[in-house]
Amino acid sequence: MLMSKKTKKILITGGVGFMGTNSAIYFYKKGWKVFLVDDCSRKGTLNNLSNLNKNIKFKFYRINVENYNKISKIISNLKPNLILHCAGQVAVTKSITDPKTDFNTNALGTFNIIESIRLYSRKSKLIFISTNKVYGSLNEKILSNKKRYIFKKSNNAIKENYQLDFYSPYGCSKGSADQYVRDYSRIYKLDTIVLRLSCVYGIKQFGIEDHGWITWLTIASYFNRKLNIYGDGKQVRDILFIDDLVRLFFIISKTKKIKNNLYNIGGGIKNSLSIIELKDILEKKLKKKIRYKNYNWRQGDQKIYISNISKVRKDLGWYPKISINKGIENVISWIKDNENNIKKILNV
Ligand SMILES: NC(=O)c1ccc[n+]([C@@H]2O[C@H](COP(=O)([O-])OP(=O)(O)OC[C@H]3O[C@@H](n4cnc5c(N)ncnc54)[C@H](O)[C@@H]3O)[C@@H](O)[C@H]2O)c1
Repeated sequence: MLMSKKTKKILITGGVGFMGTNSAIYFYKKGWKVFLVDDCSRKGTLNNLSNLNKNIKFKFYRINVENYNKISKIISNLKPNLILHCAGQVAVTKSITDPKTDFNTNALGTFNIIESIRLYSRKSKLIFISTNKVYGSLNEKILSNKKRYIFKKSNNAIKENYQLDFYSPYGCSKGSADQYVRDYSRIYKLDTIVLRLSCVYGIKQFGIEDHGWITWLTIASYFNRKLNIYGDGKQVRDILFIDDLVRLFFIISKTKKIKNNLYNIGGGIKNSLSIIELKDILEKKLKKKIRYKNYNWRQGDQKIYISNISKVRKDLGWYPKISINKGIENVISWIKDNENNIKKILNV
């Protein structure tokens, strides 16, 4: 394919994962040249790869971001306009049983990328996907009603200046990467932006019990599995549908260097939901009774987390447009259309 000098290039790490795949399609449709890096360690990635092959043009590198020589060569050769760094070890549970892999992927992998940008591609903009887990268990008074936890002060959604308190190896590895990315921008004047995400869900997400709870619980309910609920099910998160997030990536790609380069991102107060509330919604939409069993709380699980998204709205004009209802309907339609594949990949 002939590429005009002006065609923009995006390099997406974790490029055949959930966020990566959705972003690849979006940027391709906007006329960008797409390059993807992934080690395909996540279930469902090979399925995403073959779907992408049928639908868009892109170049794929099957490599591990822990490999500095390989990743730095790619960045040095491509000099992408935008690097969207989504590759990651994503589960708190796995970080507790295997903290070394977690550290190598999240902390070292991210360091390899910013160091490559510093040395070989200083004009690349970097979006780094961080997490709400950097704020730990939160120092807030929490109440509860029958179905959910609530902050005692009604408007206590979490702002970017909330005290950091890395919790769990995952919190530490992501938190250290988050701080490196921020500091490389300060010290080396790189164009980086950190997004601390709450909970993102949507199509092409092969959710499992350890990561991607909304999609996982929807898939499990669809296939009549009995749900395992860790804790009392009143845990609350603000949830964001993937299309809204990808739209934000695109807004950032078009924005000149953002000085204030840190945002908490999620569905915000309007789009917050507990596990019990999700179960109720699913029972209505799937027209069935969902069976479940409660187990002990998982370590590092926040009782409630809701992002305050007023800063990103003020600076970039972005806010979520897809409601919880619409988002969950989209996920159910995707499951219906891909029943056999999902069954095979997730063994449900
Ligand atoms: N989905 C969410 O709700 C959420 C919330 C907060 C933060 N995040 C972060 O967003 C990023 C993307 O998450 P996702 O939901 O798309 O998950 P995902 O598991 O679908 O995507 C991550 C991708 O990274 C790849 N990967 C893992 N280790 C790698 C390595 N060492 N080298 C190369 N590739 C590797 C996996 O194969 C996978 O395709 C992750 O960093 C995650 O921690 C996600």
